[in-house]
Amino acid sequence: MIGRKILFLLVTAIAAALFLAVSNQEQSNQNNQAQNSQAQTSQAAPAPRQVTFNRDVAPILYKNCVVCHRPNNIAPMSLMTYKEARVWAMAIREAVVERKMPPWHADPKVGEFLNDPRLSDADIATIDAWSRTGAREGDPKDLPASPVFGEGWHIQPDQIFTIPEFTVSGGEMDDYEYIYVPTNFTEDKWVQAAEVLPGDRRVVHHATVSVIAADKVAGKEKENSKADAGVDKYHYRTGKVLHLRADAPVVDDGCSYPTGGGVPGESSGYLNIVPGIYLPGHLAETRPAGYALRMPAGSYLQFQIHYSNHTSDDVKDRTSIGLVFAKEPVKHEIAQYEIWNNLFLIPANDDNHKVTSCYTLPKDVIALAYTGHMHFRGKSMMTEAIYPDGRHEIILNVPHYDFRWQETYFLRHQFVMPKGTRLVTTAYFDNSANNALNPDPSKAIRWGEPSDEEMMGFWLQFADPKDVSEKSAVASK
Ligand code: HEC
Repeated sequence: MIGRKILFLLVTAIAAALFLAVSNQEQSNQNNQAQNSQAQTSQAAPAPRQVTFNRDVAPILYKNCVVCHRPNNIAPMSLMTYKEARVWAMAIREAVVERKMPPWHADPKVGEFLNDPRLSDADIATIDAWSRTGAREGDPKDLPASPVFGEGWHIQPDQIFTIPEFTVSGGEMDDYEYIYVPTNFTEDKWVQAAEVLPGDRRVVHHATVSVIAADKVAGKEKENSKADAGVDKYHYRTGKVLHLRADAPVVDDGCSYPTGGGVPGESSGYLNIVPGIYLPGHLAETRPAGYALRMPAGSYLQFQIHYSNHTSDDVKDRTSIGLVFAKEPVKHEIAQYEIWNNLFLIPANDDNHKVTSCYTLPKDVIALAYTGHMHFRGKSMMTEAIYPDGRHEIILNVPHYDFRWQETYFLRHQFVMPKGTRLVTTAYFDNSANNALNPDPSKAIRWGEPSDEEMMGFWLQFADPKDVSEKSAVASK
């Protein structure tokens, strides 16, 4: 039996709720009146529940945005608090409705990726409703605890390695440095996740950190310190950067050339062991459980850092890599094929120049992740796998490449790519004045390390299908 008093309270509460709902609807209709007549016709629709920052929006921002939108991080503004987010309400709405944020450049119709950050339609609708109904704060009690991050990092490293302080002279626009840091590991370590954190973002253009065996370091250091390192029949050097020579063969269609796109005598693809890389817009890389990179006892980390100092002051840098070691048993060892066309020529003012590369896998691999790499003129990139049984499959499509967002796409479903699979990558470049990022449309462009020259790379992060324990059993025999 419901007591009279309770019944009365219930009825008043329902009436009050209805009144509130109707007046909210009226209010939002008033807000929208000027915008279009559609808002008025929706008057009959059930009133939406009041959307507030504290209850509805903060959890979405905490989960999807503040990893970059917090103080001293890569985004231009923090969205941690109501006050901070409120002034951006309209811009936030636009950014999420148009799916510009969170950033993601792979075609959603091709492949499924573990690190796909795109918001659900429901989350987008929530933000949309919030910003259109006055971007209210709501009850402070509804606000979830704000997430905690380590200073600068997007992962929680178990161990951090940092280069000795390096000074980049004022105005030094292109400097490639090779810096070796000993791990002093006394046993092999397995790296699950890694992030490269620039010491000073003003000057670190990109940084690739590779694993080098202890006995190779002296030779590498000697080679890199030579004034003519890398110079040969096809390459010349200015200062510390390499370029392709103007008289090197021109091959836009790497797939029709014996090397697949590599300079004569060299394959288009080569093997690298890369725990972490810093590129514009590139976040920490976390590999799926069971897959990890081996860092052998005594190995070194090679920091290849491309410095570019636009300021006239000397800037000091100490770039770091943070490593997260595998916590679960490792089954498969990770490495990477980097596949390139290094012989293309992009004519001046060409707004849609096609370049291809081809590489045939020399062994069975488990495909884990893909990365496309071009510079400012990169427009789109697509990679197709042609399997030994003749099947064709597009594995990655980046229809609107953006130099500022160079993501690595981690497959949700890892799969075996058999030996003999041909990876065909097709890229388009926009060397016209229509490309807002183009440093100089009047120049014909070839391969070069400086970012105002170009590169065309597709990288396949893969794992060895052989179980790690089987392999070490073989090795110790
Ligand atoms: C990976 C880091 C990252 C994540 C995650 C991210 N942003 Fe951004 N955001 C940026 C950066 C960097 C910029 C500035 C450069 C740009 O606009 O591309 C930016 C710009 C913006 C802008 C400004 C656009 C303008 O008009 O100037 C808005 C609004 C925005 N982000 C909202 C969001 C929201 C909302 C989310 C989550 C749903 C989000 N961002 C997630 C990095 C990020």
